[in-house]
Amino acid sequence: MLKIAPSILSADFTRLGQEIDRVSSADWLHVDVMDGAFVPNISIGVPVLASVRSYTGMFLDVHLMVDKPARFIPAFAEAGADLLCVHLEADSPQGVREALARMDAHGVKKGIALRPITCAEAVIPYLEQGLDLVLIMTVEPGFGGQSFMDHQLPKIAAVRRYIDADCPACRLEVDGGIHAETARLAVEAGADVLVAGSAIYGAPVPGEAIQALRDTARN
Ligand code: DX5
Ligand code: ZN
Repeated sequence: MLKIAPSILSADFTRLGQEIDRVSSADWLHVDVMDGAFVPNISIGVPVLASVRSYTGMFLDVHLMVDKPARFIPAFAEAGADLLCVHLEADSPQGVREALARMDAHGVKKGIALRPITCAEAVIPYLEQGLDLVLIMTVEPGFGGQSFMDHQLPKIAAVRRYIDADCPACRLEVDGGIHAETARLAVEAGADVLVAGSAIYGAPVPGEAIQALRDTARN
């Protein structure tokens, strides 16, 4: 069953509670954490996540775009993340494994994310150990409002095949440039979670944009 995850990066932060209410028909809430080092932008940190947690019961899908993320896993877990996702490019394989082990220790669901440059095969050793999510970026991470990279579609399809073979309960999330038309392409390629920031918060009625994503992906 397809899940829609609005990214609050595109929300109006002066009234974040109301902005969360506007997307309450979605399945997950996507929280983009950027450190100004792994990506050339700084966004949301632990205190904001804790406030979001105290405001909503929605599933909090936290995308960590930070270098050496293992050191931050306990803080984000204790702030209320339901799922934490770390980039394979953000540390050595040993560092990524340490981050995943800390997620297990804190009882949060665990995911890995791939920049556009990273190949599909990179997920295989992690899938074999068990994962809840693989996130494929279809823009360079760092900013909302960019255009979907069509050339990532074969990678989405390849990761779908690896998931089906090795870890069928794992979800496949696509993030970046998702709107009604690209949602259909991503789902056809095998995505089952769609992140959308500007397409949802840029719409006059975000709930209608969420429904439109569900509908186009179904047809
Ligand atoms: C980009 C973030 C995305 C971003 C998506 O680095 O990971 O989650 O908010 O925004 P749109 O949907 O506008 O591309
Ligand atoms: Zn994201």
